[in-house]
Amino acid sequence: MKFLRLSFAVAALAAFFTPARAADSTATLVLDATKPGPVINKNIYGQFSEHLGRCIYEGLWVGEDSKIPNTKGYRNDVIAALKELQVPVLRWPGGCFADEYHWRDGIGPRASRPAMINTHWGGVVENNHFGTHEFLDFCELMGIEPYVCVNVGSGTVQEEMEWIEYMTSDADSPLTRLRKQNGRAQPWKVHYVAVGNESWGCGGNMTAQFYADNYRRYNTFVKNYGANRIQRIAGGPSDFNYEWTETLMKSAAKQMNGLSLHYYTLPTGVWSAKGSATEFGEDQYIATLSRTLKMEELVTKHSAIMDKYDPQKKVGLVVDEWGTWYDKTPGSHDGFLEQQNTLRDALVAALNLHIFQAHADRVTMANIAQFINVLQAMILTDKETMILTPTYHVFEMFKPHQGATSLPIALTSPDYALGENKIPAVSASASRDAAGKIHISFANTDPNKPTTVACTLTGVTAKSVTGRVLTATAMNAHNTFAAPHTIEPAAFTGAKLENGSLSVTLPAKSVVMLELN
Ligand code: AHR
Repeated sequence: MKFLRLSFAVAALAAFFTPARAADSTATLVLDATKPGPVINKNIYGQFSEHLGRCIYEGLWVGEDSKIPNTKGYRNDVIAALKELQVPVLRWPGGCFADEYHWRDGIGPRASRPAMINTHWGGVVENNHFGTHEFLDFCELMGIEPYVCVNVGSGTVQEEMEWIEYMTSDADSPLTRLRKQNGRAQPWKVHYVAVGNESWGCGGNMTAQFYADNYRRYNTFVKNYGANRIQRIAGGPSDFNYEWTETLMKSAAKQMNGLSLHYYTLPTGVWSAKGSATEFGEDQYIATLSRTLKMEELVTKHSAIMDKYDPQKKVGLVVDEWGTWYDKTPGSHDGFLEQQNTLRDALVAALNLHIFQAHADRVTMANIAQFINVLQAMILTDKETMILTPTYHVFEMFKPHQGATSLPIALTSPDYALGENKIPAVSASASRDAAGKIHISFANTDPNKPTTVACTLTGVTAKSVTGRVLTATAMNAHNTFAAPHTIEPAAFTGAKLENGSLSVTLPAKSVVMLELN
């Protein structure tokens, strides 16, 4: 087994693309707590809620008159589950929907709000009952930072400017009087604004230069009112579109605080036949994990372009759409993007979160798509019942990483291979929280065998270790409304800390979170 010691910068790769691979089934990890890295922005654990299918309506919002127990129209069961998750930031109202959304349709008495057709997502009629007040009040209730995407594709600069004033100004103006008339005296705090969404596609089919010029124009009118300070996020590339990043950074880096990146994981890589969420064999299991690991390459290469124009890393890479995208759940509405969520999704979540943490110097936010009932969701609802997905459990287990200081690791891992796919079996990430506690998270992608990780810890005084594990017998294990607790975290007993060395035996296809005490 070859062994490589990595500097922190190179440890950006350590979460997965470790150049040295062990030939046997033992991995090694060296953690150096004396050389702390950057803080892991808690916003890496962000969420995304679009007016799409049953994400907002039914998922989050049922209205005050619903029989489903609610607080001011928001489902109580969902509120409780999300509080447990410690959601730092929530993106809204889209997605593609954002570039068709006209905010004035979503304020005032609900009964008189005009309806519209949601052309992107199932052609359903959107009644606008969930609008600016409902979103920002929800964020305030939950202590979540709102991240609002303004309409560049079909909206005007004036409309955008007035929305920002309506939400955040404390002056006495016709717009703030309208806000007061609608029941909100104080301005809300809105610290994150995205200027358009996927402007290369559903947001207007623009060229990179045309969008860059429009970004500069629209951004000029995103004003800071009173004490409110807005971080501006420019619409970035999808996937491997490096030319978009180059153009945006060259033309507008000085006007932005963030540049977005979108990347979805499809088992087959083919949009017309993406693959099933639950009915898959080991070939699609490894293909999915292998494709999701492309995130490492994307973050590295887009960051390298950003480094050219922003060597001081003032502009964050904001991965504001990521996750799995499967064929829709059989029988579900076209365009609602409903899919189940299995142990495979839990591994996808862990691998991506590790990648973002390894790049904490550049990745300042990430928003998994999406929050509830859509794509790689945290929560699925069916009328008055709710279930938590394996992805929810990973986000919940990894909470201690939020806002913690990353610690450099050097990792060697055996491969897990099948057919033409070969990926490292082990992925890991470590951090130290404000109280000085060290947490190490692991994923074992190998569905067939456990992997033992021999860890050397430098600068660690901990004497004992506790942990939790998420795993199951089947790689497609998932929770259903009939069996909601099929896959849940359990106490982990596979770690031993003796005389400063830690040995961890990761079960096959598992995610583990350790706390050193
Ligand atoms: O998340 C679903 C859709 O995927 C979003 O609306 C869009 O931005 C992306 O293409």
